[in-house]
Amino acid sequence: MVIRLAAPARILSRKETALTYVIGEPCIDIMDRACVDECPVDCIYEGARSLYINPDECVDCGACEPVCPVEAIYYEDDLPASLEPYKEDNARFFAEPLPGRAAPLGVPGGAGKTGVIGADTALVADHPRREDAA
Ligand code: F3S
Ligand code: F3S
Repeated sequence: MVIRLAAPARILSRKETALTYVIGEPCIDIMDRACVDECPVDCIYEGARSLYINPDECVDCGACEPVCPVEAIYYEDDLPASLEPYKEDNARFFAEPLPGRAAPLGVPGGAGKTGVIGADTALVADHPRREDAA
C-alpha cells in the first residue's frame, strides 16, 4: 500500500494577501516625515501636502506606525471608519496619473529614486488647508 502525505499548505506571500499600511488624513499639511526614516524598503512617497504608502512595495513591517506624531498611519484592517477612503487613495496615488504627469507612478522601487513627487490625489488636494500647519 502506498501512503501519500498531504501536500503542505501553500504559504501566501505578503503581496498575495494584499495587505498594507495606509497614511490617512492626519498627515495632510503636517508631513512630519518620521515615518520615512523608519521604512526599510523606502516605500513612503512624498506628495505636495501628504505622504503615501505604496501598497505594492510595503512589506507590512509596521515600523512606521508608532513614530507618526499625529497617528496618521494604520494597518489597513485597523483603519478608523473616517479614514477608510485613504486606503484606496494611497493606492490611487500610484495607480493613476497625478496632475502634471502622463503616466502613473506604478512601482518605482523606492522614494529615493523618485524624490519628492510634489502632487497629490484629488482627495488630498481638495482637503481644506489645516490652519495650524506650518
Ligand atoms: Fe505624515 Fe506622520 Fe509620516 S505626519 S509624513 S505619516 S510621520
Ligand atoms: Fe514601510 Fe511602514 Fe510598510 S515602515 S514597509 S510603509 S509598514
